[in-house]
Formats: sequence, structure tokens, C-alpha cells
Amino acid sequence: MTFPATRLRRLRATPALRAMARETALTPADLVAPLFVCHGENARRPIASMPGHAQVSVDEATRDAEALAALGVGGVILFGLPASKDAEGREAYAANGIVPKAIRALKKATPDLLIWADVCLCEYTDHGHCGVLNGDRVDNDRTLPLLARAAVAYAEAGADLIAPSDMMDGRIGVIRRALDEAERAETPIVAYSAKYASAFYGPFREAAESAPQFGDRRGYQMDPANAEEALREVALDLEEGADMVMVKPALPYLDVIRRVKERFGVPVAAYNVSGEYAMIKAAAQNGWLDGERAALETLTSIRRAGADVILTYFAKEIAPVLERREA
Ligand code: PBG
Repeated sequence: MTFPATRLRRLRATPALRAMARETALTPADLVAPLFVCHGENARRPIASMPGHAQVSVDEATRDAEALAALGVGGVILFGLPASKDAEGREAYAANGIVPKAIRALKKATPDLLIWADVCLCEYTDHGHCGVLNGDRVDNDRTLPLLARAAVAYAEAGADLIAPSDMMDGRIGVIRRALDEAERAETPIVAYSAKYASAFYGPFREAAESAPQFGDRRGYQMDPANAEEALREVALDLEEGADMVMVKPALPYLDVIRRVKERFGVPVAAYNVSGEYAMIKAAAQNGWLDGERAALETLTSIRRAGADVILTYFAKEIAPVLERREA
């Protein structure tokens, strides 16, 4: 079947034909919006490298959650800014820490919005690493019980999904057992399985005040050159009880998203990270590209690659666009 019998332009002629022929659907329910929650009241401290985002106190976070729920956004993922940091990251697993506090408020205000709780120590440790230290190395096995405590604290506060982002070996199994023992067998785990040591986390570390105070995260996050290893990470996390797996960042790792989806056929999340957001925002602010179209194209490509769910800072501005796409 070749030209002129075949003319692929026929199905591109009008918005209605394009909508009919479109292979990839993207809806607000596929999106999860990150929120950075801090102590205090009426606080909304803008994050310079992430225009449109701020560190927000729980009351303000509640307003954001209500707006997102009204737009049909699927969920929010919470990151906490503790009152103080220490070597063991204590506020990460304190029952009255900032994240459990936010979870309780949000669950009350927006019961149908899914609340994801990111589990990691980096926002809570004074050294900024994702686990406790032994000398200048992150001690994997001593970190595990602390992550499990955090997961249980968040689940007990009402989190709908637990999402460990620390990249310690064995954490999914340890967290699964801890949740089961705490009678939270129904709480799903979204494993940040293939999380790469990425330059694209830069703005997040400003937002979460979580930059490592020495060294970097290459001793626990993945080497960007590796894809086979990502499949091993995913396989292990699934064996340990992960309900959904994540690839992060998204755009530089679309091949990994595709391979994970094809190999395992499980629910896959992708994190369109802070640097991916900041790049588009910066270019749009300079008038160098159409920010809305670039965001839409980015999110569509992540879905097309195989992600079921996308964590993205674009959720709030893109959700209304999805409703009137090509209208
Ligand atoms: C915490 C964590 C990070 C991100 C999500 N969870 C930062 C990091 O690993 O340094 C990055 C998210 C983003 O850049 O948007 N471990």
C-alpha cells in the first residue's frame, strides 16, 4: 500500500480526525503534582528555579490540593521541610512530623485526591544524604529500619501510596513487611526503582533544601549509562513487593520507561523532574518556545513511552489544557 492509495495526511486534516486517530491519551487523572510542605501558617515561599511553585504551609497546601482536585488531577506527592535537621533525619519518621501533619489535613480536605508520601531521609538529614552515614558512606542496612518507620508513620497518617526514593538496597521488602505488621497490608508501594544520579534534580534540591553537603549521590543512585541494571532494579523491587515501579527522571530515560513496560507489563510511573520543568519554564520566559505546547508534548511523549502515571510540576497548568485539547 503506497502512495497515492495511501495518504497518511488524510487522518491529520482536522482537529476531529486528529482526535480520532490519536494513539496516546493523557488525562488529568494520570498526573501527580509534587507539593513542598513546611511548618507555619499562611506561608507561601516561592522557589526561584521553579516558577509557579512554592514551599507551602499545611493550610496553603490544603488550598493547592483543593484546586488540583477540582481540576481532576490524580494525586499529590508530598515532600517535607522539617523544623530542624540532624544526622539521623529524625523528623522523617516522627509521627507528628511535617509530612504526617500534611497528610492528615489533606486527607480531610480532599478525601478523593490520592496522597503519595515520598519516603527518603535527604530532606531531614543535616548532611543531606538519603540515609544515615558511616564515615562518609551512606550505611544501607542501618538506613532501612528508619525508612520503614517513616513509611509506617505516613501510612498511619492516611497516605494512600508510599513511594520510597532513597535507593537503598532491600528497602521495598523491609517497608512491605513493616507496613504489613502495622496492619497496612492494603497500602501500595510505588518504588522509585530506576532512579538515576541526575543533574536534573537541581531545582528540587533548592525547593526541598536537600542538597548533599559533601560528595554526591552516585554511590546509591544509578549511573545514567545503565539500562540493563534498571531492569534488575525493577525485578528486585517487584519481587520484594512493589505494586508500581518508577523511572526517574523521565525525558532522558524514555527508553528505560519503554523497556520496563515491555519487559514487566506492570504499572509504571515516571517522574518528570524539577530540572525538566525548569528548562521549559526558563525557555518559555525568554520567549524561546511555547511553554504550554512544550509541556504537553513532553507529557504526551512520556505516556507514549509507556508510563501510566506521570509525576509532574506541570500538573496544575496542563490539567485544564487537556480538557480543551485542540478545541
Ligand atoms: C529525594 C528526592 C529527590 C527527588 C525526588 N525525591 C532528589 C534527589 O534525589 O536528590 C527529585 C525530584 C525532582 O528533581 O523533581 N531523594
